[in-house]
Amino acid sequence: MRFSPGFPSELAGQIYPALPRGEGEDVPVKVRIDDKCCQGHGRCYELAPGLFGDDDEGYGMVLGDGTVPPGEEQGAHLAAANCPEHAIVLT
Ligand code: F3S
Repeated sequence: MRFSPGFPSELAGQIYPALPRGEGEDVPVKVRIDDKCCQGHGRCYELAPGLFGDDDEGYGMVLGDGTVPPGEEQGAHLAAANCPEHAIVLT
């Protein structure tokens, strides 16, 4: 797994894998971030840059309307599994 240059190296060994899913099982359709929980850890946009971005203060934000494009489901699960604040909601 590659991380962007700004990703803290001490976190590289602490990334939790997304749990394997069966075909068609628990496939997220949308992602959202609970703004009350997000503390700006940045793992979401480092691990799934196709789904998340950051605002001017480093807090996570969902790109677009949060729809998870085909092929990005694993990134959605990976981001959710690694948000320390459990701020990412998959529906
Ligand atoms: Fe916020 Fe969690 Fe991302 S704290 S910046 S939603 S990793």
